[in-house]
Amino acid sequence: MTILEAANITKRFGGLEALRNIDLKVEAGELVGVIGPNGAGKTTLFNILSGVFRPSSGKVFFRDEDITGMKPHRIAEKGLVRTFQATRLYSNLPVLENVYIACHIPARPNIAGDIIGLPSVKRRESQARQRAKDIVSLAGLESVSLELARNLPHGYQRTLGVAVALAAEPKLLCLDEPVTGMNAEETQFMMGFIQRIRQQGITILIVEHHMKVVMSLCDKVAVLNFGRKIADGKPEEIQNNKDVIEAYLGRQEESVA
Ligand SMILES: Nc1ncnc2c1ncn2[C@@H]1O[C@H](COP(=O)(O)OP(=O)(O)OP(=O)(O)O)[C@@H](O)[C@H]1O
Ligand SMILES: [Mg+2]
Repeated sequence: MTILEAANITKRFGGLEALRNIDLKVEAGELVGVIGPNGAGKTTLFNILSGVFRPSSGKVFFRDEDITGMKPHRIAEKGLVRTFQATRLYSNLPVLENVYIACHIPARPNIAGDIIGLPSVKRRESQARQRAKDIVSLAGLESVSLELARNLPHGYQRTLGVAVALAAEPKLLCLDEPVTGMNAEETQFMMGFIQRIRQQGITILIVEHHMKVVMSLCDKVAVLNFGRKIADGKPEEIQNNKDVIEAYLGRQEESVA
C-alpha cells in the first residue's frame, strides 16, 4: 500500500525554483531516504509534505487522501508527523515530561473533566504516563528520564526530539537530518532508535547528509540536486549512479563512498 505520494511537486520562492517536478512514493512500512547537497530542496520538500508550505504546483496524497495545502496540525493529526532540523523541546522540563506532554496531543481535551477529576480523565492520564514511559524506553533514554532536557548532550536532545514526534502517534514519521552534528556514539544511538521505530511498523522518511546512515538504514533513496530528483532506487544502485557521484563531487565531507 502506498502511504505517501508526492506528485509533480514544484515550489518557487520568488524567482528561485527550490523544487521542480518532484515525484516521490513511499510504501507503508518502508524506510525511505532523501539525500542531496546543501540547498538541494530536501527541507523544502518536507515542508510541503507536512503542510508548512503549499506547493506552487503538484499534489500530495497521504493514505489516498489529497492533503495538499492542508494545515500542518491537521496533517499531523492524520498521522504524518515530522521533526525539524533544529530540535524543539521544553528545555526546562525533564525528558519524560517532554514526551508526556506530547502524548496528550492526539487526545481530545476534556477541561471540565480535568477539573472535577473524572475517572475517564484519570484513566487517560495514566495511559498517557505509561505511553510516555514506553516511548522513553524505546528511545533508550530511561536512564536520563528525570534529567532536564537542556542538560542532555546535543545528540540525546535530538533523540528526545524524535521521541516527542513519536508521541504524536505517526503512521509516517519524517525525520529532517536526525544525526547531523552528532558524534559516532550518538549517531549509533539514534540509528538504533530509528530501527526500533521501524520495527513498530511505522513508515519513515528521512532526510540526511550522513551517507553511511542513509545507505545502511534505508530501503530506497531519492536524490535531489538543485531542486530536481536526479536518481532514486536501492542504496547500492544510488551509490553507483554517475549523476549522483557527480552531484557530490568535490564535497569531501559528504562523499558518496
Ligand atoms: N522560505 C524560503 N524562502 C526563500 N527561499 C527558500 C526558503 N526555504 C528554502 N529556500 C531556498 O530553497 C532552496 C532549497 O532549500 P532547502 O532548505 O530545502 O535545502 P536543503 O536541501 O534542506 O539544504 P540543507 O542540506 O542545507 O538543509 C535553497 O536555495 C534555499 O535558499
Ligand atoms: Mg535542510
